[in-house]
Amino acid sequence: MSTLLHVSASPRGTSSDSRALAGAFLDSHRRAKPDVMVEELDLFDGKLPTFGRLAAQAKVAVFGGGQPSAEQQGEWDAARAVFDRFAAADAYLFSVPMWNAGVPYVLKQWIDIITQPGWVFGFTPEAGYTGLITGKKAAVVYVSGVYQPGASLAYGADFHSTFFNDWLRFAGFTDVAEVRWQPDLLTATRDADKTAALQRAADAGSRF
Ligand SMILES: Cc1cc2nc3c(=O)[nH]c(=O)nc-3n(C[C@H](O)[C@H](O)[C@H](O)COP(=O)(O)O)c2cc1C
Repeated sequence: MSTLLHVSASPRGTSSDSRALAGAFLDSHRRAKPDVMVEELDLFDGKLPTFGRLAAQAKVAVFGGGQPSAEQQGEWDAARAVFDRFAAADAYLFSVPMWNAGVPYVLKQWIDIITQPGWVFGFTPEAGYTGLITGKKAAVVYVSGVYQPGASLAYGADFHSTFFNDWLRFAGFTDVAEVRWQPDLLTATRDADKTAALQRAADAGSRF
């Protein structure tokens, strides 16, 4: 049995559009692959550890080829536990609302916790970074309320999908499916657009 980890970055529960699209994706994915076990990681459940002075010092020590000190070890181990939960899955679905042109802060916090040398990436001065999360598929649901690809800058910029897609590339993902719902505010077709987006999510889920 393989596992698919759904990483959700919306706090809006049943009102969440990204969760609704993720739900459509997962329903059709389960129908297509009944043996897949879906696990939920709610980044807003308040359980993410902080990544502060000691963890950052540990990161710099490990990046330089050393070890965390005894004082740093506790925060480093807490980060490792978050990474281990991520790494244990075989495939991923991320639901990612746009917040202030970027990603919700908990998703950045989670990325800062798990993106460590020897865990998510390798590095040499000669070759630069190498992603270590290889051979796994990811799907991402991107939702925004105002921003639309192609709209003028008055409707905001995209540091949302650009940032997160780049993190996936950095981590080693090469097989990434995207479902977007970025409604056009200037048309009165919101309900129809959402229905179409849910269908795109369901189609992506059955193909995944
Ligand atoms: C804190 C916050 C910041 C937001 N910032 C933006 C933004 O910069 N651009 C945008 O298009 N939508 C923005 N939105 C709208 C959300 O992207 C939109 O409501 C989306 O549906 C939220 O996803 P969710 O329903 O899964 O929570 C913001 C919403 C919140 C709550």
